[in-house]
Amino acid sequence: MTTFWSLWIIIITVGTLVGCAALLIWCLKDKMGVEESADMGHEYDGIRELNNPLPKWWTYLFVGTFFFAATYLTLYPGLGNFKGVLGWTSSDQTVRSLEESKASVAAAQSNKQLDQYAKELDDADTYFGEAFKSLAYVNGSTELRPIPEIAADSEAVKVGQRLFLQNCSQCHGSDARGQKGFPNLTDDAWLYGGEPAAIVTTIMHGRIGQMPSWKDALGEQGVEEVVSYTLSLSGRSVNARDAEAGKARFVVCAACHGTDGKGNPAVGAPDLTDQDWLFGSSRADVTETVMNGRSGVMPAWKDILGEDKVQLVAAYVWSLSNSDNK
Ligand code: HEC
Ligand code: HEC
Repeated sequence: MTTFWSLWIIIITVGTLVGCAALLIWCLKDKMGVEESADMGHEYDGIRELNNPLPKWWTYLFVGTFFFAATYLTLYPGLGNFKGVLGWTSSDQTVRSLEESKASVAAAQSNKQLDQYAKELDDADTYFGEAFKSLAYVNGSTELRPIPEIAADSEAVKVGQRLFLQNCSQCHGSDARGQKGFPNLTDDAWLYGGEPAAIVTTIMHGRIGQMPSWKDALGEQGVEEVVSYTLSLSGRSVNARDAEAGKARFVVCAACHGTDGKGNPAVGAPDLTDQDWLFGSSRADVTETVMNGRSGVMPAWKDILGEDKVQLVAAYVWSLSNSDNK
Protein backbone atom coordinates (compact mmCIF):
# COMPACT_ATOMS: atom_id res chain seq x y z
CA MET A 1 0.00 0.00 0.00
CA THR A 2 1.33 3.46 -0.81
CA THR A 3 1.83 5.94 2.02
CA PHE A 4 -1.07 7.99 0.69
CA TRP A 5 -3.63 5.15 0.93
CA SER A 6 -2.17 4.06 4.24
CA LEU A 7 -2.71 7.55 5.67
CA TRP A 8 -6.13 7.70 4.03
CA ILE A 9 -7.26 4.58 5.87
CA ILE A 10 -5.69 5.64 9.18
CA ILE A 11 -7.31 9.07 9.07
CA ILE A 12 -10.76 7.73 8.16
CA THR A 13 -10.64 4.94 10.78
CA VAL A 14 -9.25 6.99 13.66
CA GLY A 15 -11.39 9.98 12.63
CA THR A 16 -14.57 7.87 12.74
CA LEU A 17 -13.68 6.49 16.18
CA VAL A 18 -12.89 9.94 17.59
CA GLY A 19 -16.06 11.34 15.98
CA CYS A 20 -18.26 8.64 17.54
CA ALA A 21 -16.61 9.14 20.93
CA ALA A 22 -17.19 12.91 20.74
CA LEU A 23 -20.85 12.34 19.83
CA LEU A 24 -21.28 10.03 22.81
CA ILE A 25 -19.68 12.50 25.24
CA TRP A 26 -21.80 15.30 23.84
CA CYS A 27 -24.99 13.25 24.26
CA LEU A 28 -24.08 12.40 27.85
CA LYS A 29 -23.88 16.10 28.81
CA ASP A 30 -27.01 17.84 29.98
CA LYS A 31 -27.01 20.96 27.86
CA MET A 32 -30.50 22.17 28.53
CA GLY A 33 -30.47 22.76 32.25
CA VAL A 34 -33.67 20.75 32.42
CA GLU A 35 -34.24 18.39 35.30
CA GLU A 36 -33.97 14.64 34.64
CA SER A 37 -37.22 12.97 33.52
CA ALA A 38 -38.83 16.32 32.91
CA ASP A 39 -41.26 16.57 30.01
CA MET A 40 -39.53 18.20 27.01
CA GLY A 41 -42.80 19.38 25.54
CA HIS A 42 -42.56 17.23 22.39
CA GLU A 43 -45.24 14.77 21.48
CA TYR A 44 -45.30 12.37 18.53
CA ASP A 45 -48.47 10.34 18.00
CA GLY A 46 -49.13 10.28 21.69
CA ILE A 47 -45.55 9.45 22.67
CA ARG A 48 -44.05 12.15 24.89
CA GLU A 49 -40.34 12.96 25.02
CA LEU A 50 -38.82 13.02 28.52
CA ASN A 51 -35.31 14.23 29.37
CA ASN A 52 -34.00 10.75 30.18
CA PRO A 53 -30.28 9.96 30.10
CA LEU A 54 -28.88 7.30 27.72
CA PRO A 55 -29.44 3.83 29.21
CA LYS A 56 -26.39 2.81 31.28
CA TRP A 57 -26.02 -0.67 29.77
CA TRP A 58 -26.04 0.85 26.32
CA THR A 59 -23.51 3.54 27.21
CA TYR A 60 -21.13 1.00 28.74
CA LEU A 61 -21.46 -1.24 25.69
CA PHE A 62 -20.63 1.72 23.49
CA VAL A 63 -17.59 2.63 25.60
CA GLY A 64 -16.55 -1.03 25.51
CA THR A 65 -16.48 -1.03 21.72
CA PHE A 66 -14.04 1.90 21.77
CA PHE A 67 -11.64 0.04 24.00
CA PHE A 68 -12.01 -3.07 21.88
CA ALA A 69 -11.34 -1.13 18.66
CA ALA A 70 -8.32 0.65 20.15
CA THR A 71 -6.85 -2.59 21.54
CA TYR A 72 -7.50 -4.54 18.36
CA LEU A 73 -6.02 -1.89 16.06
CA THR A 74 -2.93 -1.67 18.28
CA LEU A 75 -2.30 -5.42 18.42
CA TYR A 76 -3.28 -6.55 14.91
CA PRO A 77 -2.74 -5.19 11.39
CA GLY A 78 -5.59 -3.12 10.01
CA LEU A 79 -4.58 0.53 10.20
CA GLY A 80 -2.99 1.16 6.78
CA ASN A 81 0.56 -0.16 6.69
CA PHE A 82 0.79 -0.48 10.48
CA LYS A 83 1.52 -4.17 11.15
CA GLY A 84 0.25 -4.28 14.73
CA VAL A 85 2.50 -4.84 17.75
CA LEU A 86 1.96 -8.63 17.69
CA GLY A 87 3.24 -8.93 14.12
CA TRP A 88 0.44 -11.40 13.24
CA THR A 89 -0.10 -12.28 9.54
CA SER A 90 -3.00 -14.06 7.81
CA SER A 91 -0.82 -16.41 5.77
CA ASP A 92 2.68 -17.77 5.61
CA GLN A 93 4.37 -14.76 4.07
CA THR A 94 7.64 -16.62 3.66
CA VAL A 95 6.41 -18.29 0.44
CA ARG A 96 7.02 -15.84 -2.35
CA SER A 97 8.75 -17.90 -5.06
CA LEU A 98 8.82 -21.40 -6.51
CA GLU A 99 11.95 -22.27 -4.48
CA GLU A 100 10.33 -21.09 -1.27
CA SER A 101 7.19 -23.04 -2.13
CA LYS A 102 9.21 -26.22 -2.72
CA ALA A 103 11.12 -25.67 0.52
CA SER A 104 7.84 -25.21 2.35
CA VAL A 105 6.38 -28.44 0.90
CA ALA A 106 9.58 -30.32 1.80
CA ALA A 107 9.34 -28.94 5.34
CA ALA A 108 5.69 -30.02 5.58
CA GLN A 109 6.68 -33.50 4.38
CA SER A 110 9.56 -33.83 6.79
CA ASN A 111 7.42 -32.94 9.80
CA LYS A 112 4.69 -35.26 8.50
CA GLN A 113 2.04 -32.60 7.85
CA LEU A 114 1.15 -34.23 4.54
CA ASP A 115 0.76 -37.71 5.99
CA GLN A 116 -2.96 -37.22 6.47
CA TYR A 117 -3.39 -36.67 2.72
CA ALA A 118 -1.16 -39.61 1.80
CA LYS A 119 -3.08 -41.75 4.25
CA GLU A 120 -6.44 -40.77 2.77
CA LEU A 121 -5.20 -41.64 -0.73
CA ASP A 122 -3.98 -44.95 0.64
CA ASP A 123 -7.30 -45.63 2.37
CA ALA A 124 -9.21 -44.82 -0.80
CA ASP A 125 -7.00 -47.25 -2.67
CA THR A 126 -7.66 -49.99 -0.12
CA TYR A 127 -11.42 -49.47 -0.37
CA PHE A 128 -11.78 -48.87 -4.10
CA GLY A 129 -8.53 -50.17 -5.60
CA GLU A 130 -9.81 -53.74 -5.65
CA ALA A 131 -13.02 -52.67 -7.38
CA PHE A 132 -11.06 -51.02 -10.20
CA LYS A 133 -8.77 -54.02 -10.50
CA SER A 134 -11.60 -56.54 -10.65
CA LEU A 135 -13.17 -54.60 -13.53
CA ALA A 136 -9.91 -54.05 -15.42
CA TYR A 137 -8.19 -57.45 -15.08
CA VAL A 138 -9.20 -60.95 -16.10
CA ASN A 139 -10.32 -62.77 -12.92
CA GLY A 140 -7.64 -62.06 -10.35
CA SER A 141 -4.78 -62.22 -12.86
CA THR A 142 -2.54 -59.37 -14.04
CA GLU A 143 -3.82 -59.71 -17.59
CA LEU A 144 -5.91 -56.71 -18.70
CA ARG A 145 -9.36 -57.44 -20.09
CA PRO A 146 -9.69 -56.48 -23.78
CA ILE A 147 -11.21 -53.02 -24.34
CA PRO A 148 -14.25 -54.22 -26.35
CA GLU A 149 -15.10 -56.68 -23.55
CA ILE A 150 -14.94 -53.96 -20.88
CA ALA A 151 -16.96 -51.65 -23.15
CA ALA A 152 -19.73 -54.26 -23.27
CA ASP A 153 -19.87 -54.37 -19.46
CA SER A 154 -22.19 -51.53 -18.47
CA GLU A 155 -20.94 -51.46 -14.85
CA ALA A 156 -17.33 -51.03 -16.01
CA VAL A 157 -18.29 -48.37 -18.56
CA LYS A 158 -19.99 -46.39 -15.79
CA VAL A 159 -16.83 -46.52 -13.73
CA GLY A 160 -14.83 -45.46 -16.80
CA GLN A 161 -17.19 -42.55 -17.33
CA ARG A 162 -16.80 -41.47 -13.70
CA LEU A 163 -13.00 -41.51 -14.14
CA PHE A 164 -13.41 -39.51 -17.32
CA LEU A 165 -15.55 -36.87 -15.61
CA GLN A 166 -13.02 -36.52 -12.80
CA ASN A 167 -9.86 -36.43 -14.87
CA CYS A 168 -10.58 -35.58 -18.48
CA SER A 169 -13.72 -33.46 -18.73
CA GLN A 170 -12.03 -30.15 -17.93
CA CYS A 171 -10.32 -30.38 -21.33
CA HIS A 172 -12.47 -32.72 -23.42
CA GLY A 173 -15.82 -31.60 -21.99
CA SER A 174 -18.19 -33.63 -19.81
CA ASP A 175 -19.79 -35.06 -22.97
CA ALA A 176 -16.30 -35.78 -24.43
CA ARG A 177 -17.11 -33.64 -27.46
CA GLY A 178 -14.04 -31.46 -26.94
CA GLN A 179 -13.56 -27.83 -27.78
CA LYS A 180 -11.16 -25.80 -29.89
CA GLY A 181 -7.72 -27.40 -29.51
CA PHE A 182 -9.10 -30.36 -27.50
CA PRO A 183 -10.28 -33.22 -29.69
CA ASN A 184 -13.81 -34.55 -29.81
CA LEU A 185 -13.55 -38.16 -28.62
CA THR A 186 -17.01 -39.25 -29.75
CA ASP A 187 -16.53 -39.08 -33.52
CA ASP A 188 -14.55 -41.16 -36.00
CA ALA A 189 -11.83 -38.56 -36.61
CA TRP A 190 -8.68 -39.51 -34.71
CA LEU A 191 -5.34 -37.75 -34.56
CA TYR A 192 -3.51 -40.78 -33.19
CA GLY A 193 -5.86 -43.59 -34.15
CA GLY A 194 -9.05 -44.87 -32.60
CA GLU A 195 -8.16 -48.54 -32.15
CA PRO A 196 -8.14 -49.71 -28.53
CA ALA A 197 -4.33 -50.00 -28.43
CA ALA A 198 -3.83 -46.48 -29.85
CA ILE A 199 -6.26 -44.96 -27.34
CA VAL A 200 -4.53 -46.73 -24.44
CA THR A 201 -1.10 -45.54 -25.63
CA THR A 202 -2.40 -41.97 -25.96
CA ILE A 203 -3.78 -41.97 -22.42
CA MET A 204 -0.90 -43.82 -20.76
CA HIS A 205 1.92 -41.78 -22.24
CA GLY A 206 0.32 -38.53 -23.39
CA ARG A 207 0.85 -36.84 -26.76
CA ILE A 208 2.35 -33.62 -28.00
CA GLY A 209 1.10 -32.31 -31.33
CA GLN A 210 3.80 -30.77 -33.47
CA MET A 211 2.52 -28.70 -36.31
CA PRO A 212 5.42 -26.41 -37.30
CA SER A 213 5.16 -22.68 -37.98
CA TRP A 214 5.45 -21.79 -41.68
CA LYS A 215 5.65 -18.00 -41.44
CA ASP A 216 9.37 -17.85 -42.13
CA ALA A 217 9.68 -20.71 -44.63
CA LEU A 218 6.72 -19.74 -46.85
CA GLY A 219 6.13 -16.04 -46.19
CA GLU A 220 2.68 -14.48 -46.06
CA GLN A 221 1.95 -15.01 -49.75
CA GLY A 222 3.08 -18.65 -49.57
CA VAL A 223 0.92 -19.32 -46.51
CA GLU A 224 -2.07 -17.68 -48.22
CA GLU A 225 -1.64 -20.03 -51.19
CA VAL A 226 -1.13 -23.22 -49.23
CA VAL A 227 -4.15 -22.35 -47.03
CA SER A 228 -6.26 -21.97 -50.17
CA TYR A 229 -5.16 -25.40 -51.35
CA THR A 230 -5.74 -26.90 -47.89
CA LEU A 231 -9.28 -25.52 -47.76
CA SER A 232 -9.97 -26.87 -51.26
CA LEU A 233 -9.14 -30.39 -49.96
CA SER A 234 -12.37 -30.43 -47.96
CA GLY A 235 -14.40 -29.03 -50.83
CA ARG A 236 -14.36 -25.33 -49.94
CA SER A 237 -14.45 -22.87 -52.82
CA VAL A 238 -11.24 -20.87 -53.02
CA ASN A 239 -9.31 -18.75 -55.49
CA ALA A 240 -8.26 -21.32 -58.13
CA ARG A 241 -4.92 -19.68 -59.02
CA ASP A 242 -3.92 -19.50 -55.32
CA ALA A 243 -4.94 -23.14 -54.82
CA GLU A 244 -2.88 -24.21 -57.84
CA ALA A 245 0.20 -22.41 -56.48
CA GLY A 246 -0.54 -23.84 -53.02
CA LYS A 247 -0.68 -27.37 -54.37
CA ALA A 248 2.93 -27.09 -55.45
CA ARG A 249 3.89 -25.83 -52.01
CA PHE A 250 1.97 -28.66 -50.28
CA VAL A 251 4.91 -31.04 -50.80
CA VAL A 252 6.38 -29.77 -47.52
CA CYS A 253 3.11 -30.57 -45.77
CA ALA A 254 2.81 -34.01 -47.34
CA ALA A 255 5.65 -35.32 -45.15
CA CYS A 256 3.19 -35.38 -42.23
CA HIS A 257 -0.29 -34.92 -43.67
CA GLY A 258 0.31 -37.32 -46.60
CA THR A 259 0.29 -36.44 -50.31
CA ASP A 260 -3.49 -36.73 -50.33
CA GLY A 261 -3.78 -34.67 -47.11
CA LYS A 262 -5.49 -37.51 -45.26
CA GLY A 263 -3.19 -37.25 -42.27
CA ASN A 264 -0.96 -39.67 -40.42
CA PRO A 265 -1.78 -41.09 -36.99
CA ALA A 266 1.88 -41.95 -36.38
CA VAL A 267 2.69 -38.25 -35.94
CA GLY A 268 -0.81 -37.10 -34.98
CA ALA A 269 -1.22 -35.12 -38.21
CA PRO A 270 -4.94 -34.59 -38.79
CA ASP A 271 -6.87 -35.45 -41.93
CA LEU A 272 -7.26 -32.16 -43.81
CA THR A 273 -9.85 -33.47 -46.26
CA ASP A 274 -12.74 -33.94 -43.80
CA GLN A 275 -15.05 -31.46 -42.09
CA ASP A 276 -13.44 -31.92 -38.65
CA TRP A 277 -11.23 -29.08 -37.56
CA LEU A 278 -9.39 -29.22 -34.28
CA PHE A 279 -8.27 -25.62 -34.34
CA GLY A 280 -11.15 -24.01 -36.21
CA SER A 281 -12.34 -24.12 -39.79
CA SER A 282 -12.52 -20.44 -40.71
CA ARG A 283 -9.92 -19.14 -43.12
CA ALA A 284 -8.51 -16.99 -40.32
CA ASP A 285 -8.19 -20.02 -38.00
CA VAL A 286 -6.49 -22.18 -40.62
CA THR A 287 -4.16 -19.31 -41.57
CA GLU A 288 -3.24 -18.90 -37.89
CA THR A 289 -2.53 -22.66 -37.68
CA VAL A 290 -0.21 -22.61 -40.70
CA MET A 291 1.46 -19.24 -39.91
CA ASN A 292 2.34 -19.92 -36.29
CA GLY A 293 1.99 -23.69 -35.88
CA ARG A 294 0.12 -25.54 -33.13
CA SER A 295 1.12 -27.79 -30.30
CA GLY A 296 -1.66 -29.45 -28.36
CA VAL A 297 -0.55 -31.26 -25.21
CA MET A 298 -2.34 -34.34 -23.93
CA PRO A 299 -0.98 -35.19 -20.46
CA ALA A 300 0.29 -38.71 -19.58
CA TRP A 301 -1.86 -40.63 -17.05
CA LYS A 302 0.26 -43.72 -16.37
CA ASP A 303 1.58 -42.46 -13.04
CA ILE A 304 -1.62 -40.74 -11.98
CA LEU A 305 -4.22 -43.41 -12.76
CA GLY A 306 -2.18 -46.57 -13.25
CA GLU A 307 -2.80 -49.11 -16.03
CA ASP A 308 -6.05 -50.51 -14.57
CA LYS A 309 -7.88 -47.18 -14.42
CA VAL A 310 -6.42 -46.15 -17.78
CA GLN A 311 -7.86 -49.36 -19.25
CA LEU A 312 -11.30 -48.50 -17.84
CA VAL A 313 -11.31 -44.91 -19.02
CA ALA A 314 -9.97 -46.02 -22.43
CA ALA A 315 -12.85 -48.49 -22.71
CA TYR A 316 -15.28 -45.67 -21.97
CA VAL A 317 -13.66 -43.45 -24.64
CA TRP A 318 -13.65 -46.30 -27.16
CA SER A 319 -17.30 -47.07 -26.43
CA LEU A 320 -18.29 -43.50 -27.35
CA SER A 321 -17.58 -44.08 -31.03
CA ASN A 322 -18.09 -47.84 -31.11
CA SER A 323 -21.20 -48.59 -29.14
CA ASP A 324 -24.30 -49.74 -31.00
CA ASN A 325 -26.34 -46.72 -30.02
CA LYS A 326 -23.89 -44.08 -31.25
C1 HEC B 1 -5.02 -30.63 -19.94
C2 HEC B 1 -5.99 -30.99 -20.92
C3 HEC B 1 -6.28 -32.47 -21.14
C4 HEC B 1 -6.67 -33.40 -20.22
C5 HEC B 1 -6.90 -33.22 -18.73
C6 HEC B 1 -6.88 -34.61 -20.95
N1 HEC B 1 -6.60 -34.41 -22.27
FE1 HEC B 1 -6.79 -35.80 -23.74
N2 HEC B 1 -6.01 -34.48 -25.06
C7 HEC B 1 -5.71 -33.17 -24.81
C8 HEC B 1 -5.21 -32.54 -26.00
C9 HEC B 1 -4.79 -31.09 -26.16
C10 HEC B 1 -5.19 -33.53 -26.99
C11 HEC B 1 -4.73 -33.37 -28.44
C12 HEC B 1 -3.24 -33.46 -28.52
C13 HEC B 1 -2.75 -32.94 -29.84
O1 HEC B 1 -3.22 -31.88 -30.29
O2 HEC B 1 -1.88 -33.58 -30.43
C14 HEC B 1 -5.72 -34.74 -26.37
C15 HEC B 1 -5.88 -35.96 -27.03
C16 HEC B 1 -6.52 -37.05 -26.51
C17 HEC B 1 -6.80 -38.26 -27.22
C18 HEC B 1 -6.43 -38.56 -28.67
C19 HEC B 1 -7.52 -38.10 -29.58
C20 HEC B 1 -7.23 -38.40 -31.01
O3 HEC B 1 -7.91 -37.80 -31.85
O4 HEC B 1 -6.34 -39.23 -31.30
C21 HEC B 1 -7.46 -39.11 -26.36
C22 HEC B 1 -7.98 -40.50 -26.66
C23 HEC B 1 -7.58 -38.40 -25.10
N3 HEC B 1 -6.99 -37.16 -25.21
C24 HEC B 1 -8.17 -38.93 -23.97
C25 HEC B 1 -8.09 -38.33 -22.73
C26 HEC B 1 -8.49 -38.99 -21.50
C27 HEC B 1 -9.12 -40.35 -21.41
C28 HEC B 1 -8.22 -38.11 -20.50
C29 HEC B 1 -8.41 -38.32 -19.00
C30 HEC B 1 -7.74 -39.46 -18.43
C31 HEC B 1 -7.66 -36.90 -21.10
N4 HEC B 1 -7.60 -37.09 -22.44
C32 HEC B 1 -7.30 -35.79 -20.38
C33 HEC B 1 -5.87 -32.51 -23.61
C34 HEC B 1 -6.23 -33.12 -22.42
C1 HEC C 1 6.14 -32.16 -38.96
C2 HEC C 1 4.83 -32.63 -39.38
C3 HEC C 1 3.91 -31.59 -40.03
C4 HEC C 1 4.12 -30.83 -41.15
C5 HEC C 1 5.37 -30.80 -42.03
C6 HEC C 1 2.92 -30.07 -41.36
N1 HEC C 1 2.02 -30.35 -40.39
FE1 HEC C 1 0.16 -29.56 -40.20
N2 HEC C 1 -0.09 -30.53 -38.48
C7 HEC C 1 0.79 -31.43 -37.92
C8 HEC C 1 0.30 -31.89 -36.65
C9 HEC C 1 0.99 -32.89 -35.74
C10 HEC C 1 -0.93 -31.22 -36.45
C11 HEC C 1 -1.82 -31.33 -35.22
C12 HEC C 1 -1.24 -30.40 -34.17
C13 HEC C 1 -1.82 -30.61 -32.81
O1 HEC C 1 -2.69 -31.47 -32.65
O2 HEC C 1 -1.41 -29.88 -31.88
C14 HEC C 1 -1.14 -30.39 -37.63
C15 HEC C 1 -2.25 -29.59 -37.81
C16 HEC C 1 -2.54 -28.91 -38.96
C17 HEC C 1 -3.75 -28.20 -39.23
C18 HEC C 1 -4.93 -28.07 -38.28
C19 HEC C 1 -6.03 -29.04 -38.64
C20 HEC C 1 -7.23 -28.92 -37.75
O3 HEC C 1 -7.99 -29.90 -37.67
O4 HEC C 1 -7.45 -27.86 -37.14
C21 HEC C 1 -3.65 -27.67 -40.48
C22 HEC C 1 -4.68 -26.83 -41.21
C23 HEC C 1 -2.36 -28.04 -40.97
N3 HEC C 1 -1.71 -28.80 -40.04
C24 HEC C 1 -1.87 -27.69 -42.23
C25 HEC C 1 -0.56 -27.89 -42.62
C26 HEC C 1 -0.01 -27.35 -43.81
C27 HEC C 1 -0.75 -26.48 -44.80
C28 HEC C 1 1.30 -27.74 -43.84
C29 HEC C 1 2.34 -27.38 -44.86
C30 HEC C 1 2.61 -26.00 -45.05
C31 HEC C 1 1.53 -28.57 -42.68
N4 HEC C 1 0.38 -28.63 -41.96
C32 HEC C 1 2.72 -29.18 -42.40
C33 HEC C 1 1.99 -31.85 -38.47
C34 HEC C 1 2.59 -31.27 -39.56
